[in-house]
Amino acid sequence: MNKWNHRHIIDLANFSQRDYTSVLELTHRFRSLPQSGARKLPALQGRLVATLFFEPSTRTRSSFELAARKLSADVQTFNPSSSSLNKGETTIDTALTYVAMGADVLVVRHRSTNVPAQLAAALEDAGKRTTVLNAGDGLHSHPSQGLLDLYTLAHHFDPLNPSPICLQNKKILIVGDILHSRVARSNLWAITACGADVILCGPPSLVPKDFQAFVEAPPPGLGPDPIRKRGKIEIEHKLEKALPKADAVMALRLQQERMRENLLSDIDRYQRDYGLNHEKLNLCKQPIPVLHPGPVNRGIEISSSLLEDRSICLVEEQVRNGIPTRMALLYLMAASESAT
Ligand code: NCD
Repeated sequence: MNKWNHRHIIDLANFSQRDYTSVLELTHRFRSLPQSGARKLPALQGRLVATLFFEPSTRTRSSFELAARKLSADVQTFNPSSSSLNKGETTIDTALTYVAMGADVLVVRHRSTNVPAQLAAALEDAGKRTTVLNAGDGLHSHPSQGLLDLYTLAHHFDPLNPSPICLQNKKILIVGDILHSRVARSNLWAITACGADVILCGPPSLVPKDFQAFVEAPPPGLGPDPIRKRGKIEIEHKLEKALPKADAVMALRLQQERMRENLLSDIDRYQRDYGLNHEKLNLCKQPIPVLHPGPVNRGIEISSSLLEDRSICLVEEQVRNGIPTRMALLYLMAASESAT
């Protein structure tokens, strides 16, 4: 196993090729373990993982908790609606309360960009050993989703040996609300790092031109990009022009709760122009898989019949892969902790 240098996982901008290889290898090993029976791995025995989701979640929170339990950790779930947030306690003080109760890992989701990074900095300043795993912050980043999507793609291209190399020279089409998507941002880092190109597709109001420069400009405060040759990013507003070039397509949810202005005047038109269905997939040069991080607006981003077509649609597979991917991240963080 390669050396793991990430005490906290905030985003994927500083992940190297070796990091992606380590996560995919370990995910594949954990995925191959028997799913039934009471077998647990002892790796995180005696550790406490707290899931602090200040924003709603179904799959991310549950799969982190299942992953932690499969590694024998104790798990503490925070429920914002019945918490002291309602009495004015701040987010950081709430998180520090869990640290005081002995949490070794905080899995944090927050509507504001940077909360996980601020928390990690506060823990470092206070000399605490607790690590932070970003489970989605604002529009910024959702690293574990980027990694499980990467694994799902690599596994589709080479089921026996899913590694970053499987993505080389592929073109991955991402269609939908790119502007509001932290998943799109994490996928851009992960996919281009493995040498695949990304085509971003959607209406101009949701696919801003400056996304093309996204991977060329690492976020402030980070060192030079650890990836020598990234894949390229292309923007194409017409789905019928993008589909024939794609080796896989990922649809993203229309995040209406994040749209401050009315960026989409007509949902029916969106569905007609950008919604995926069997008929539109006929434009592809070969059968290609369809992904979506969920939750899906059924019938808008993906037609109901396509969503249920397991021969094409990998949405269930993505949900399943979320558990071994999160096991891999928790395992790598715990292993590097014990080595220090
Ligand atoms: C995403 C999220 O919350 O960022 N969902 C997820 O974690 N699987 C995407 C979304 O909300 O549309």
